[in-house]
Amino acid sequence: MRMTQKRIVLSSDHTAIPLRQAIAAHVTARGWIAVDIGPMTPESTHYPRHAEAAARHVASGDCRFGIILCGTGQGIMMAANKVKGIRCGVCLEPYSARMIRQHNDANMLSLGARVVGEGLALAIVDAFLEAEFEGGRHADRVAMISALEG
Ligand code: RB5
Repeated sequence: MRMTQKRIVLSSDHTAIPLRQAIAAHVTARGWIAVDIGPMTPESTHYPRHAEAAARHVASGDCRFGIILCGTGQGIMMAANKVKGIRCGVCLEPYSARMIRQHNDANMLSLGARVVGEGLALAIVDAFLEAEFEGGRHADRVAMISALEG
């Protein structure tokens, strides 16, 4: 396995720093390399910047997956999906996290730190990381998503 295949980039806005750090520790304990690009201090900040920075790590191939967080998970997800090659979903429970890997070949996961607690967030992360893309008819549909990127 190439080293990239074990790297996960993490980022957030100011609302989610403790949860992001808990996720970084959790995935590290499971054998992943956590690339935590911050922010590290709690001043109010702009989630699109952190979405883009994380998404570039994934789109460039530097990291296999990205996990991003803001208050709801929604704004940072919207921004990440503007970067070519990114498929990012917000998940509130593990089922959706598994399905966005199996059917949508998602390469980024977004979480809302004001929506999910730490225990649920870690279960969502595990579901996302343990699932595999199923390919087949789903690959055709993912290709249709990519064709929309222009
Ligand atoms: C910050 O107050 C909040 O707007 C942000 O974290 C996020 O929820 C936006 O989608």
